Amino acid sequence: MSDPATPAPGWPFWVGTSWKMNGLPDDARSYAERIAAVDDWHGVLPFVMPPFTVLADVARLLRDSPVQVGGQNMHWDECGSWTGEISAPMLRQCGATMVELGHSERRRHFGETDQTVNLKVHAALRHGLTPLVCIGETQAERDGGVADLILARQVRLALHGLTAAHVGRVMFAYEPVWAIGEAGRPAPPELVAQAAAGIRQELDRAAGAPGVSPPLLYGGSVNLENAAPYAALAGIDGLFVGRAAWTAEGYAALARAAARPPCRGP
Ligand code: PGA
Repeated sequence: MSDPATPAPGWPFWVGTSWKMNGLPDDARSYAERIAAVDDWHGVLPFVMPPFTVLADVARLLRDSPVQVGGQNMHWDECGSWTGEISAPMLRQCGATMVELGHSERRRHFGETDQTVNLKVHAALRHGLTPLVCIGETQAERDGGVADLILARQVRLALHGLTAAHVGRVMFAYEPVWAIGEAGRPAPPELVAQAAAGIRQELDRAAGAPGVSPPLLYGGSVNLENAAPYAALAGIDGLFVGRAAWTAEGYAALARAAARPPCRGP
């Protein structure tokens, strides 16, 4: 067993943020201009997920920067009678290269299920978008001793029907539901390491071999104090941040805090 505090192979390291339902055009442009001006990301792979209404603007402003842009959700169909929805080709046309799927707020408030996440994963890959699938257990599921089962089920169903080669093109974020948002409590790093080890087993199984399975990010009340300890965990390949990265300066500072030296021994 590896020591959870020992950095594991897996460089480079992702640091991304979803703005959720925040970001009017002026604020979004100002944020994008500021992070476009960051000249050293200290080796991290940055990405931002703004609301649909400003996505094209943000993607245009970040076109010549290393920062990737993603949507926060999408529909699984290409087009058609799906009032209020956005498709993968629409996201691509706006300049998105990624899409967040299955966030707990979508599962809880908007009826997202493991089955619809799976349809969306297939659609994202068909259209050249990298899906970032969010998974996580509720407090009741953790208290009831079924957290690992819930996480395994979410992973398996999200990847259902993909070839092993396609599995490697999906990203995951482990976000315990009880750790997210204003009422969230940051998860103890040991708990994250233990959950990540179980998730990795599932990912390796789906990918058909260890070492080629998807990146696994951690999210939920990540902030400047806890970013480095989470980033140091074996099996965690990035951080997915909400509130603490809702200013450009906050985001850039988090990326710096999470940056790890590229040279890591066994
Ligand atoms: P938070 O959100 O960092 O504000 O807790 C994380 C998330 O919802 O992904």
